[in-house]
Amino acid sequence: MKPKPDDICPHPPEPPVSATQPIAPPIALSSVYRCADPREADALLAGSAAGYVYRRDGHPNADTLAEQCRRLHGAERAAVCGSGMAALAAVLLAELRPGDHIVAAIQLYGRSRVLLEQECTRLGIAVTSVDITNDQAVTAALRPETELVIAETITNPLLRVPNLARLAEIAHAHGARLLVDNTFASPAICRPLELGADWVVESLTKIMNGHSDVVLGAIIGSAANWERVPGVITTWGLVAAPFDCWLAARGLATLALRIQRAAANAQSVADFLVCRRAVREVVYPGLATHPDHAVARQQFGDQFGAMVGFSLVGGLPAVEQFMKAAAEIPFAPSLGELATTVSHPASTSHRGLSPAARAQLGIDDGLLRLSVGIESSEWIQRALAAVVS
Ligand SMILES: Cc1ncc(COP(=O)(O)O)c(C=O)c1O
Repeated sequence: MKPKPDDICPHPPEPPVSATQPIAPPIALSSVYRCADPREADALLAGSAAGYVYRRDGHPNADTLAEQCRRLHGAERAAVCGSGMAALAAVLLAELRPGDHIVAAIQLYGRSRVLLEQECTRLGIAVTSVDITNDQAVTAALRPETELVIAETITNPLLRVPNLARLAEIAHAHGARLLVDNTFASPAICRPLELGADWVVESLTKIMNGHSDVVLGAIIGSAANWERVPGVITTWGLVAAPFDCWLAARGLATLALRIQRAAANAQSVADFLVCRRAVREVVYPGLATHPDHAVARQQFGDQFGAMVGFSLVGGLPAVEQFMKAAAEIPFAPSLGELATTVSHPASTSHRGLSPAARAQLGIDDGLLRLSVGIESSEWIQRALAAVVS
C-alpha cells in the first residue's frame, strides 16, 4: 500500500549522510533524540555513553558554547545556563545547604544581591555584604560556616577592581571558596581561575555575546567542584536554548577583537571626559587616578574594559538634558554591545536601593555609565563632545 501523507508527514527523513563537516555549526533544535534500545537510553542518561536524549539534559549547541567558554578560561569544566542569573543560582544550589554563610561584595549587581539577600536567606543561607576591596572587612565577615566569598572582577557602576588573588587566599585560609562574576571583564581581560578563584560565572548576555540578542550565562570551574553542577542545571531547569547558544558562539568568535577595540575606545573616552568642565568625576580603571589602577594593571595588563563612569556637575537635571541631547548614544540599561550605550545607575540598575544606600556606594544622581562600543574613537568623541561641554 502506498504510504499516505498522514503517515509520511510526522516522520521526516534522516539527515543526509556527509563525509564532510560544516564549518558553521548546525543548530540542533530537537527536544528529544531517538535511542537504539533501552540499554542505550540508560547508558546515555547515566552519562556512561556520549550523546543526547532530552534537551533539558544537554544538547550540542550548549556543549559547543560551554567548550568555548572552558577553553577561554583555561578551565577543566564549563556549562551554560539560560541566563547569567541562572548560572549564579546554579553554583549556589550546587555548593550550599541551609546553615551555610556567604560573604558577598556589597557592590554586586543588584539582582545578584536580591538572589542572595532575599532568596538564599529564605532557604536558610545567611549573607553578609561587605566592601569587597577592603580585605579587613572581608576577613572580619568570615564565620566558621562561611562557604563562599562572592566578588565581581569589575564592579558596577563604580568599576572597583578587587584583588582576586588576595581574596582567594583569604577565602581558602578559612576553608571557603571564591566565586567571581567576571561579566564586566570577560576572559579576554581576566581569567579569575588563574588568580585562585574556584568558580567563575559570566553573563554571556553582555560582552561575551556582544550583539544584544541573547540572554545566557556560563559557569566555569574545576573538575573537583563539578559533581553536582550538571544535575542542578537539569533538575532546576536552568538550561539554555540551542538558538541562543548558537548565536552566542557566533558572538564569541569576535570577542577578543571587540574587546581590544572597545577597551582602547574606553580609555580614550575616559581621557577625553577628564578634561570636560561639565564632568565632576570620571571613573575608569585605566586612569592612574582610579583607586584600583595598580591592581587592575596587575590583573588585566593593558586593557581595562569597556565601561566608563562619569558624574555630571548638574546632577539629575544635567543627566536628563544629556539623555535628550545624546540622540546617537542609546539610553539602554545593559552593556557590552557593539554600539556605545549609556545607562543611569540611580534610575536603572540601582533603583531598588534607597538614596542613602546609593550614597553609601558612591552612586549619585548625576552618575552616568557608558558601555563603550566598537565604533571609531572619533565618532564616539564627536557624539560626546556634542553633549558634554
Ligand atoms: C555583573 C552582572 N552579573 C550578572 C548579571 C545577570 O545576567 P543576566 O541578565 O544574563 O541574567 C548582570 C546583568 O546585568 C550583570 O551586570
